[in-house]
Amino acid sequence: MQKLEQLYEGKAKKVFKTDDPELYIVDYKDDATAFNGQKKGQISGKGVINNRMSNFLMTIMEKAGVPTHFVKELSDRETLVKKVSIVPLEVIVRNVAAGSFSKHYGVEEGTKLLNPTLEFSLKDDALDDPLINEYHITALGVATRQELDRITEMTFKVNEVLKAYFVGVGIELIDFKIEFGKTSDGQIILADEISPDTCRLWDIETRQKLDKDRFRRDMGNVEDAYNEVFARLGLKA
Ligand code: TMP
Repeated sequence: MQKLEQLYEGKAKKVFKTDDPELYIVDYKDDATAFNGQKKGQISGKGVINNRMSNFLMTIMEKAGVPTHFVKELSDRETLVKKVSIVPLEVIVRNVAAGSFSKHYGVEEGTKLLNPTLEFSLKDDALDDPLINEYHITALGVATRQELDRITEMTFKVNEVLKAYFVGVGIELIDFKIEFGKTSDGQIILADEISPDTCRLWDIETRQKLDKDRFRRDMGNVEDAYNEVFARLGLKA
């Protein structure tokens, strides 16, 4: 399968058409941004790690009954995926307080939440991805009630499966962001990526951060953290 015309370049990936109208190729970059692109940098080898890790985790989701866009890994950085139109929502689950949740509600980072939380942000860089509630989402036609119910059901399933998988390799899943897409026949499937760019992952014992917060907060050892998660999942360069 060959890359044809580039459709889109995002902050971390490029998307290309293929000769099959229902399939795209995504190409993962080493570029890293934070704070809506205000902070820019590179995490050497990140594209390879995120591509392979995301494909590995998407395969686990498929086995758990969550349909995804994943079709086939083509190379270290390139993956064949189903064509979808992205539902413009960042779907965020939190198991432990951190990041913007800690800031908004004055809760110390690392405080275990009594139940997993679900929140949505509207994917719109010009508006700085504002938080949005379910009434707003349906009122604006971003997704229907049925689509939101399906997204919610799949999201909590992803949380359960991902959390259990990471515990098995000594990692606590603090929170994560996922995105969904709609196929040509209207099916909602898991899309985008699952990686240390989009999850907060802490070592269970030491509570050391093994994710993009090391880049966001200039903590150093960013590449080491990504490599550590990659290795714990049993993946090899
Ligand atoms: P937050 O605490 O900054 O709201 O982030 C919650 C989770 O979402 C965290 O795992 C990081 C992830 N995330 C993204 O993947 N992309 C983003 O643009 C943001 C702001 C957060």
